[in-house]
Amino acid sequence: MKIQINNKEVETLPGETLLETARREGYNIPSLCYAKEAKHKSSCMVCAVRNVVTGQIFPSCTTLPVESMQIDTESPEVIHTRTLSLELLLSDHRADCEAPCKTACPGNMDVAAMNRLYDQNRTDEALTLLRDTLVIPATLCYICNAPCEKICRKGDVNTSVSIREIKKKLVAATDLNKILPPVPNGKKAAVNGSGPASLSTAYHLCQQGYAVTIYEQFESILSPYIPADQVPPEILRLEIEVLIRMGIQFKHTPEAPSPTGYDTIITPQPKTKQPARLVLEGHRLAVQQPPVPFNSTYNRFTEAEKAHIRQSYNSSRCLYCDCDAKAGCRLRLHATEYGIKTTRYPKSSASEALHRQEIGRGMYFEPAKCIKCGLCVYNSANGFTFKDRGFIMQVVLPEENAENINEQLIALCPTGALNQR
Ligand code: SF4
Ligand code: SF4
Ligand code: SF4
Ligand code: FES
Repeated sequence: MKIQINNKEVETLPGETLLETARREGYNIPSLCYAKEAKHKSSCMVCAVRNVVTGQIFPSCTTLPVESMQIDTESPEVIHTRTLSLELLLSDHRADCEAPCKTACPGNMDVAAMNRLYDQNRTDEALTLLRDTLVIPATLCYICNAPCEKICRKGDVNTSVSIREIKKKLVAATDLNKILPPVPNGKKAAVNGSGPASLSTAYHLCQQGYAVTIYEQFESILSPYIPADQVPPEILRLEIEVLIRMGIQFKHTPEAPSPTGYDTIITPQPKTKQPARLVLEGHRLAVQQPPVPFNSTYNRFTEAEKAHIRQSYNSSRCLYCDCDAKAGCRLRLHATEYGIKTTRYPKSSASEALHRQEIGRGMYFEPAKCIKCGLCVYNSANGFTFKDRGFIMQVVLPEENAENINEQLIALCPTGALNQR
């Protein structure tokens, strides 16, 4: 049978849905509750398309082609329907993609990831993560007013995590003998100045293999550009020594680097005085960074959530509020593609944040991230099931059914609701 998609005639195959035909023809249609080769029913409307002949908008994942259909997959009406559907799903989504401490950090430090490594005594990996983001992490801890600690969700329950103390302890544990120059790429770079942005640019160029020379007009490094009296001198020395061990050279001269001597010369033009933000600017200068993905966030904990957290979490430990499923979550992917802003939709959810049902073998179910697509219900025998109907409908896993859940179901789940550590 022949139909039209976006004014192009295409041949359908027997048994194929519109979504499958369109994708085979190269059209990019998002989907959440659909999974090829698995039982599914349309519920999310994220795969919406329009029949130009009738004006109807419908889900393409369960609709079979009909002779003479003229399908539109990209008009503003279709995009609007998909956007609304995503916003509706997110209005019932009580979870953070990124922990608030990361979004609050002017240097965008992944504090939750650092805390996980710290709690597991993986000091070297934690230090690498720290330096790859903040370059001079301990120095920044002394001069930053720590918005990460002010916004820490743990502070809502009892006391905030001592993020700066953890960073200082990690930096103090640096083994300088383990700091080695990266593999050279045969190119040379010069960076003007030794403020936070310049050191950050130099660090990331060096990581890419450049032989980096910093041109500094003053006698000392870094201290002319920050409130250095707030930082213990041994910390400043240690953080600069790390850069020297990586192979970064410092040239104290009022002269500018000669353009003939370098493949690239960079002079950071600071747009802020905030040291951690300067480090981020320096990183951006040295590395092409991808656009910032969508970030689902929720407001403060309810009293019920606080009570649950007090009961279930060790009082001194980080809650690891970010989402383990960030990399593979299709809800986040499509929210990013459709430019969804957290502030655009009202939020209300019956589910509690950070409420995880352990399933065994590292698997867990987190209802606050469930979009109730039903994939886990239709594709598990005596596993997940629906409870109630209408707006209060929930997907639940009775305890006695937990042993029937396997890794294949996790792969089907389009969000981080069903996941494995
Ligand atoms: S399930 Fe997806 S959208 Fe929700 S918090 Fe996790 S990554 Fe973000
Ligand atoms: S509890 Fe941990 S992950 Fe959550 S905001 Fe505080 S430091 Fe960040
Ligand atoms: S847990 Fe089940 S119903 Fe919820 S999003 Fe995942 S697959 Fe869909
Ligand atoms: S309705 Fe088609 S993917 Fe959800």
